[in-house]
Parts: sequence; C-alpha cells; structure tokens
Amino acid sequence: MKGIIFTEFLDLVEDTFGLEMVDQIISESELPSEGAYTAIGTYSFSEMLQLIQNLSKHTKIPVDDLLLTYGEHFFSVIETNYAGLLATYNDPIEMLSSIENHIHVEVQKIYPDAELPTFIVQEKTATTLIMVYKSNRAMHHFGLGLMNKTFEHFNSSAEIILEKIKDDGTEVKFIITKH
Ligand code: HEM
Repeated sequence: MKGIIFTEFLDLVEDTFGLEMVDQIISESELPSEGAYTAIGTYSFSEMLQLIQNLSKHTKIPVDDLLLTYGEHFFSVIETNYAGLLATYNDPIEMLSSIENHIHVEVQKIYPDAELPTFIVQEKTATTLIMVYKSNRAMHHFGLGLMNKTFEHFNSSAEIILEKIKDDGTEVKFIITKH
C-alpha cells in the first residue's frame, strides 16, 4: 500500500483526534515501518489494517465508518495532487465507470507497485451505474467515500447502495443512481 495512504490517514487522525491518538495507535500496532511513512514509499497493508482497527477500538467508531470518512477526505487529496486526471471528466457516472480502464491505469503508471482494487461495470446508463468491487483489502467504504465526493465534485448527488457479495467484503456490488 502506498505511503500517501498512510501519511494522509495519520494527518486526518491527528486533526480529528489529536497527536496522542496517533502515537497510541502506532505504539499498539506491530509495524515493520515503525510508523515512519513517506508519501512515495510502499508498506504492508497489514500496517493500515492494524492502525485502523486500533483507532476503531479507541474511538468506538466501526472500521467501515472510519474508512468512509477517510475516503471522503482522500478525495480532496486527489483534487490537489491529481487535478489533471480529474479534469478529463465532466460527469460523475463517466468518471466512476472509468476507474478500472483509465484512472487506476494511470495510477499504476505513476506507482508500478500500487495495489488497486478491480471495478467491473455490469450496467451503465446516463444516470445509473452498477459496478462490482473486488479487492482482498475490503476497502469498499473507502470507495464509497470517494464516490460520494465524486458526485459532490460535479455539483451532483446520488443514492449509492452497497450489497455484499462476499461476507468478508472482498466482493461488493455498488448500485448507483444519480439524482
Ligand atoms: C486505492 C488513486 C479514484 C477507489 C488507490 C490508491 C491510489 C489511488 C494511489 C492506493 C494504492 C496503493 O496504496 O497501493 C486514485 C486516483 C483517483 C482515484 C488518483 C482519481 C483521479 C478512485 C475512485 C474510487 C477509487 C473514484 C471510487 C470507488 C479506490 C479504492 C482503493 C483505491 C477502493 C483502495 C484499495 C483497495 O480497495 O484495494 N487509488 N484513485 N479510486 N482506490 Fe483509487
């Protein structure tokens, strides 16, 4: 998992819960990196899993809710760092249906070792999109946060329903209806 996912996560934890919380979740996790991340480095996903599970334990906020909030925050990171890529779109359904064959393809060119999910488009119209998310990392709520902000970015909104295909969240169907 890319370092930018860690650095932005810890910044958000610090802003929301304070530096003590950052220190606490780092010291309680078994981190080969010892919690020292650089944006361009690559680290084990198990480090992120432990950090977020420990944050969930202390805040009593479910992991999926934390991932949703983090996904919404991460969209602003994308707006700042990948403005050119965003500018190639003028419609949220077009953008979301292009994650697999354009957006994440470009991300993989920038970071050859990025670990990205798969999004398979099952149905698409001008106002609806059904996509299946697949990833061993089960970060579907991070994706949901990014999707919410994608609609906001285009001054639009949508109803987004998540249906788990696999109980462990490694395969999830997103049913998206633009308002
Ligand atoms: C992961 C970039 C749009 C869903 C990632 C990662 C990067 C990235 C750098 C981390 C990879 C790693 O740590 O190895 C971008 C950029 C985007 C974009 C630059 C737009 C310009 C989106 C959108 C979604 C999405 C719109 C909406 C669903 C995800 C998910 C992950 C991810 C769910 C977590 C990894 C996983 O689930 O396996 N993306 N992304 N991305 N991205 Fe994107």
